[in-house]
Amino acid sequence: MTTSITLIRPDDWHLHLRDGAMLQAVAPESARHFSRAIIMPNLVPPVVTGAEATAYRDRIRAALPEGAEFTPLMTLYLTEDTDADDLAAAHRDGIITAVKLYPAGATTNSASGVRDFDKVRPVLERMAEIGCPLCVHGEVTDPEIDIFDREAVFIDRILDPIRRATPGLRVVMEHITTKQGADYAQSGGPDLGATITVQHLMLDRNDMLVGGMRPHYYCLPILKRREHREALRAAATSGNAQIFLGTDSAPHPTHAKESECCSAGCFTAPIAMSCLAEVFEEEGALDKLEGFASRNGPAFYRLPENTGTITLTKGDPITIPAAVTLGEVNVTVFDPGQPLHWSVTA
Ligand code: NCD
Ligand code: ZN
Ligand code: ZN
Repeated sequence: MTTSITLIRPDDWHLHLRDGAMLQAVAPESARHFSRAIIMPNLVPPVVTGAEATAYRDRIRAALPEGAEFTPLMTLYLTEDTDADDLAAAHRDGIITAVKLYPAGATTNSASGVRDFDKVRPVLERMAEIGCPLCVHGEVTDPEIDIFDREAVFIDRILDPIRRATPGLRVVMEHITTKQGADYAQSGGPDLGATITVQHLMLDRNDMLVGGMRPHYYCLPILKRREHREALRAAATSGNAQIFLGTDSAPHPTHAKESECCSAGCFTAPIAMSCLAEVFEEEGALDKLEGFASRNGPAFYRLPENTGTITLTKGDPITIPAAVTLGEVNVTVFDPGQPLHWSVTA
């Protein structure tokens, strides 16, 4: 029985660090185990220019513990007014690694997102030219479409047409949650990647809804049926190089989660690697964890793999911290509701 595994230090290809006091509280949690992360730009107001991305990057660096080796890889929030020249300059200068597309109204802080996809076509063409990846929150916002179907419909109505119309555009399907997403991602070729979160590998909608509503499991895209969770697990453990980790760790204050209209997002950063080791062991695929967490992401983003390692050790169930707190900030830590036996020991 395997009781210890050593991996190339992992990266998180989809992370929310927020700003201000929340940033101070959560940044150290990601820096502990991860070397780099793609930082989501959905602040209020969003990060839309190269100058704003530079300023946000500097605030993140300032929030890291002394001596932490953690590189925030910045993104711009795509709007219908995005300036393609500013975007291209920020990409050329290494300020940004990718650009994020939120359909307007699809998720937390997405009001400035895209309503009319034709309006961003010239920017997408420029991105294809310069090789800047587009990270996509892939859900339609059409009120006629059931929330559980919004990802599958997005692929047919928006994503596939965009990719056909913009050859060479490199796209990451962020936080895929369905069999349709997993199938599309795995058959999309080298210009298509997909991230999968911890919670979508561990939970299905029954976990969120049976026996009471659990707000800390509420995230977007919403948890789906068990068969979709199984498809995601198969994709993550398949060894397919297009599929990689993006925790989508999305902290909200505990009071905002435990409220009448609960905010979407699971704060998984502190225990993400313990959760993943548990899942990959359950799937008999611990040998695939390094690819998923440490190798496939840099390969897609054309970045070098990290040089350090982390070691996970199996033992008695770990104690999951209830919350991360700092001053007034209190963020409840994701608890998958099952024992976790792996901890990062080095
Ligand atoms: C994210 C957030 O809180 O910013 N929430 C979530 O449920 N995943 C936004 C997002 O990634 O869609
Ligand atoms: Zn999203
Ligand atoms: Zn997210």
